[in-house]
Amino acid sequence: MLTDFKRIRELEQTFGSPFYLFDVNKLRTNYEKMNNAFKSKYSNFIIGYSYKTNYLPFLCKELANLGAYAEVVSRLEYDLAMKIGVTPTKIIFNGPLKTYQDIEMALNNGSILNIDSLYEINLLKKYCEVNKGKQVRIGIRLNFDLSHHGEDALQEGYEVSRFGVCTSNGDLDTAVEQLNQIKNITIIGVHGHFSTKERKVETYKNITNVLCSIAKQYFPETIEYVDIGGGFYGELPESFNIDSPSFDDYANAVCTMMNQEFADLDRKPYLIIEPGISMVANVFTFIAKVIETKKMRNKHFVLIDGSVHNIKPTMHKRNLPMRIVKKDLESTSSGTYNIVGYTCMEKDYLANDVNGLLPVVNDYILFENVGAYTIVFNPPFIKERPCIIAVDQNEYFVVRKKESFKEFFNEELYIF
Ligand SMILES: Cc1ncc(COP(=O)(O)O)c(C=O)c1O
Repeated sequence: MLTDFKRIRELEQTFGSPFYLFDVNKLRTNYEKMNNAFKSKYSNFIIGYSYKTNYLPFLCKELANLGAYAEVVSRLEYDLAMKIGVTPTKIIFNGPLKTYQDIEMALNNGSILNIDSLYEINLLKKYCEVNKGKQVRIGIRLNFDLSHHGEDALQEGYEVSRFGVCTSNGDLDTAVEQLNQIKNITIIGVHGHFSTKERKVETYKNITNVLCSIAKQYFPETIEYVDIGGGFYGELPESFNIDSPSFDDYANAVCTMMNQEFADLDRKPYLIIEPGISMVANVFTFIAKVIETKKMRNKHFVLIDGSVHNIKPTMHKRNLPMRIVKKDLESTSSGTYNIVGYTCMEKDYLANDVNGLLPVVNDYILFENVGAYTIVFNPPFIKERPCIIAVDQNEYFVVRKKESFKEFFNEELYIF
């Protein structure tokens, strides 16, 4: 962790403030830990990194070099995977929205394609008619009830997930029937991603169990992969105070189930996971500079040159783990303060009611654990996007430059 004031100031003076810092080695460690946990228990194992969580090209390339597949949910992400040199057979194309051209591209390239809805069957029909001589292999995302003793498992209190093909209302049977009528299609995979509140081991046991049962019931001769999606806890900062399962805990539950369910098969299907948050959240830090401190009535406000959009675009109220790097430790008093951002929105709070030494102008504030759903998710709002600096073996280098006015208001896009 970067805590040296002089070093941060050097980086700031070279690359501008605020900036993100990307710890490449931590990313490698996350990948290795996850891979070892599962692979040691079930050898046919694939990690498909969920691009949407953070599709910084340098990061995606690093993961591809480590052996990760690319899990993409749009043509934009697909094209990025191709651009950085991912082998097309190592791209998993998921997502609720696919055009005929998307499907054509994925199948022509031999990528893994999981359909999410019945409408995609018509697109597949068309593709198979055009490509009569070709054996087309696809997977299906399944939707089933994860509630336990009447308690909903999904995030945000949703009772029913909107993704995939429903296994309980006849849609799966319809889909299989329609797909079976297309001569040159084989269903080789089942997929089931769920974003759950508690990310419990038990939930993954359940997901794996349902997917394996359906695979054995519907596709016993052709099943090649069981894809249980993402949604796992990664290593959490201590300040979150959550007793989260480890990668080993998840792997034990899932791999035991896979080994049991496919005990009698010589060629066991691949187990695929699609981690996002658990792979990248703890590899990014956001570093901003204190511009002003002021008191409004009895409250201290610390204005920095970043915004809540940079660190938590969903604007949740929980404070992220953070560190203040001060030039001069002796110069301040203590108190309770809010850290607020550069936008003109009242709700631009990066941290609420923080207790401790009051920051002063030119101090730096480091917000940790900001690698997931941040840089992909913040609108270019009021200011250009900041620089991203990678650190690897004590070497610092730019992996995304600070955006300029010309790039922000791209003349090829905007009419002036
Ligand atoms: C299909 C799919 N796979 C994987 C993920 C990654 O989930 P997480 O970032 O929670 O690991 C998502 C996220 O929504 C998803 O929709």
